[in-house]
Amino acid sequence: MDRIRIVGGQRLHGTIRISGAKNAALPLMIASLLTKDTLTLHGVPRLADVTLLSRILGNHGVDITIAGKRAGQSTSDGQTFKLTAAEIVDTTAPYEMVARMRASFWVLAPLLARCGEARVSLPGGCAIGTRPVDLHLTALEALGASIELDGGYVIAKAPKGLIGGRVHLAKVSVGATHNALMAAVLALGDTVIENAAREPEVADLAACLVEMGAKIEGIGTSTLHIEGVPSLHAAEHAVLPDRIETGTYAMAAAITGGDVFLEGARADLLQEALDILRTSGVEVEETNFGIRVARNGHGLGPVSVETQPFPGFPTDLQAQLIALMCTASGVSEVRETIFENRFMHVQELARLGARIDLKGDTALVTGVNGLRGAQVMATDLRASVSLIIAGLAAQGETTIGRVYHLDRGFERIEEKLRHCGAHIERLSG
Ligand code: EPZ
Repeated sequence: MDRIRIVGGQRLHGTIRISGAKNAALPLMIASLLTKDTLTLHGVPRLADVTLLSRILGNHGVDITIAGKRAGQSTSDGQTFKLTAAEIVDTTAPYEMVARMRASFWVLAPLLARCGEARVSLPGGCAIGTRPVDLHLTALEALGASIELDGGYVIAKAPKGLIGGRVHLAKVSVGATHNALMAAVLALGDTVIENAAREPEVADLAACLVEMGAKIEGIGTSTLHIEGVPSLHAAEHAVLPDRIETGTYAMAAAITGGDVFLEGARADLLQEALDILRTSGVEVEETNFGIRVARNGHGLGPVSVETQPFPGFPTDLQAQLIALMCTASGVSEVRETIFENRFMHVQELARLGARIDLKGDTALVTGVNGLRGAQVMATDLRASVSLIIAGLAAQGETTIGRVYHLDRGFERIEEKLRHCGAHIERLSG
């Protein structure tokens, strides 16, 4: 199993190109199931999750070609995917596949909307919490689907097609909003989705669906109005930049006291996180081409943060912020309100010398004078990158095991960091 080795203490300087967002690319790829025509996606990141989802979609009959590089393009430009679901050959998403990636559960709505039936394995729990799917199922029932659970599978049926209706999501859920939206676009009549997630990745999916011929109003707000259409057609769409990758590199630059330009990053996608960085004493400059993050000689101050659905501080940046606050002067308070078990990085950060007390859903982080390198273990995607952030600032050598978690969501991370002066390498085997 691969490991990552970092020798900390180098200030990051230079430019990092931000990739297309994993959490936008996945639902966009799934949306290809909604039409027999070709959906072309630009800027798809090179990630293990994208490869796995390609296999899952292939199983349903989606033909995927990855367009070759155009003149002047480099590997940092992302890929162009052409996805064609001319015929759906299988409406079952098996356990072996859905268990490996929760987002694949989102094939449920498009398969149901297009074929009138779908059989999708329950995704089950995962490292960061129990993560139920009740909201997804009630949303589909509100649109006329019959739902049965059998042998660990959700069996959804709507033989005469889905019918528009009122979907009220009792809790803000990104995935349930994706599923409800993809069901509603092909339903007969009008649908209102209330308390919809406002995450930029939901807005990106909605924008792509509109390009495919869907009628959606209220994009970016918590109430989505959808007028169903009989079919969708071909479209071309560019995946939005990854706000979590942006925030991650911003914190990496900050912890090392560096100066980095995050090329292609959009400040409007992570305003709250950028404001928190400013509160802590980090210089953040927003431009039309990206974001510059610098901490030239200033100390870091503590912050008090609570994770919230967009536009609040994202849970997917909580681990990285805790890593950063390990070296701030004073005590920071970081409360996790979205997932109940998303503090597994805390005990690993402690190996590097961090002082963190967990009190229920809140981490109290007391800044220390310096972190020291150690052997640590990645437990999930965002936790693993928090260990990289801490390792970049730690004195001496840090090795991180189980880096396959990292490959699910960060494109060419060693290369991007090395390009800015980090001493980081991948050790195979
Ligand atoms: C998406 O997961 C993201 N995944 C997660 O990113 C992210 O942490 C999360 O949204 C919150 O922003 C992708 O986009 C692929 P939710 P999702 O449904 O959609 C509860 C990463 O690191 N809930 O918005 O699965 C749930 O338990 C990943 O890239 C129900 O109670 O998250 C949680 O407490 C990890 N019932 C809350 O809602 C349901 O039916 C929000 O979860 C569904 C969710």
